[in-house]
Amino acid sequence: MQPEKKEHWEQLYKTKTPDQVSWTQENPKTSLDYIKASKLPKNAPLIDIGGGDSLLVDYLLDAGYSEITVLDISEQAIKRAQKRLGIAADKVTWIVSDILDFKPKRTYDLWHDRATFHFLTTVTEIEAYKNTVTQWVDSNMVLGVFSKEGPLKCSGLPITQYNLAELTACFSAAFEVVHAQTEDHSTPFNTLQNFQFAHLKKK
Ligand SMILES: C[S@@+](CC[C@H](N)C(=O)[O-])C[C@H]1O[C@@H](n2cnc3c(N)ncnc32)[C@H](O)[C@@H]1O
Repeated sequence: MQPEKKEHWEQLYKTKTPDQVSWTQENPKTSLDYIKASKLPKNAPLIDIGGGDSLLVDYLLDAGYSEITVLDISEQAIKRAQKRLGIAADKVTWIVSDILDFKPKRTYDLWHDRATFHFLTTVTEIEAYKNTVTQWVDSNMVLGVFSKEGPLKCSGLPITQYNLAELTACFSAAFEVVHAQTEDHSTPFNTLQNFQFAHLKKK
């Protein structure tokens, strides 16, 4: 449990609009490309970790995926996403939880995480995340984190930067990288943030 982190995110989603936060994307294209490249059936269970009020879930519903879960530490973020989706929100499973406390009740065919894993900065936290994905991800993991050319903080919080070798090594006990790329994300303030993306498959 990280109460100060939860409070940070609850405050953020109470006070900032999507055009006031750096990570907002109108179209999460890279994530969607990797998810579609996984060639999973449309009823495969997918989870977006730290989904916040990202539009990824909207695009996944539009693409016909029917077993989508969105997890976030912030209840405010989840409420915003639910409000935006309206009745379509009923088709999604919503979980308010710190990823470090998450005890899944099922396995997932695809685990997506853009800009949440990188907030874990201690060996203990990173090991806990690795143990969770090793146990609960059946096949695909799509990760987007700040690269070594990216910012050192996100939302004012320290993060861990990764290059591809480090990301590969981090998960190599159970996963291998099948595709990867770096990407400049253009923020709503017209600055650039360099991300390292990777699509990993369970060995
Ligand atoms: C930088 S935002 C990225 C949001 C979204 N993934 C996107 O790409 O637009 C990070 C998100 O992770 C959530 N978050 C941060 N730490 C978390 C944690 N320990 N467990 C679960 N969610 C967390 C925040 O509330 C926030 O919604």
